[in-house]
Amino acid sequence: MAIFILLCSFFLFSSVNGCDRCVHQSKAAYYSSPQSLSAGACGYGTMALGFNGGFIASGSSALHRGGIGCGGCFQIRCKNPRLCNSRGVKVILTDLVKNSNSTDFVLSSSAFLAMARPGMAQEMKKAITVDIEYKRIPCEYQKKNLSIRVEEKSQNPNYLAIKFLYQGGQTDIVAVDVAQVGSSSWRFMARDYGPVWSTSRPPAGPLQFRLVVTGGYDGKWIWADKEVLPAQWRPSLTYDMGVQIDDVAQEGCYPCDTREWKLM
Ligand SMILES: *[C@@H]1O[C@H](CO)[C@@H](O)[C@H](O)[C@H]1NC(C)=O
Ligand SMILES: *[C@@H]1O[C@H](CO)[C@@H](O)[C@H](O)[C@H]1NC(C)=O
Repeated sequence: MAIFILLCSFFLFSSVNGCDRCVHQSKAAYYSSPQSLSAGACGYGTMALGFNGGFIASGSSALHRGGIGCGGCFQIRCKNPRLCNSRGVKVILTDLVKNSNSTDFVLSSSAFLAMARPGMAQEMKKAITVDIEYKRIPCEYQKKNLSIRVEEKSQNPNYLAIKFLYQGGQTDIVAVDVAQVGSSSWRFMARDYGPVWSTSRPPAGPLQFRLVVTGGYDGKWIWADKEVLPAQWRPSLTYDMGVQIDDVAQEGCYPCDTREWKLM
């Protein structure tokens, strides 16, 4: 029992944001212009506007986590039963809320209005902010594999910077290695920011990758040990890794993760 409690407190305190799977209370606002979400502290650029049918959001610094939280998925429910439906909305985090104060999310307007009851959209707009509860949920990409976009600043063969796209499940990428296909001499890449990782010593292509995602009690390796980038990889192209992550990191979040998140 003592060990159990020790483990619990370790995972409670080791996780920056407390427990991902706990329900949090906060407020949400919205951007009147979708372009506000396309510059971005996650580096997705205008590509973000196409994610998740445009249901995207910027999150507080505790959710953005210096960029590690980019691409994470959240279910958000508005707590005003007169204005809002009980389903809420599922969004992908693509940016950071600056000076967030007590507003953990600023949503794209389509995501914000998706929380409205029929006929209440105009009133929702006027409300500007609403009380919400939210939790992190696994991302689901039925028609996309985890993919790598080669960043514009890459220069084959001297510099490789990549951005991860379409990461399913509910984990964080904590390490990335790259090697020539068939070779076992892996080189680590460093996180530049958010979903962008780079190396100034890329091996000669074609290239394979392996990553470590947080598993909770232990990291988990994800292998893409076949050609992901061809020898002549090119900046601004996106390459399919042929794998998808669907793991959900185990966390000790007792007692919050034992409670059901009831519909209102
Ligand atoms: C944060 O909230 C406090 C208290 O409501 C307010 O005085 C302050 O101006 C807010 N700061 C920002 C940056 O919105
Ligand atoms: C994902 O990768 C698998 C294995 O390489 C492949 O068979 C499948 O077609 C890919 N799915 C998509 C949606 O591209």
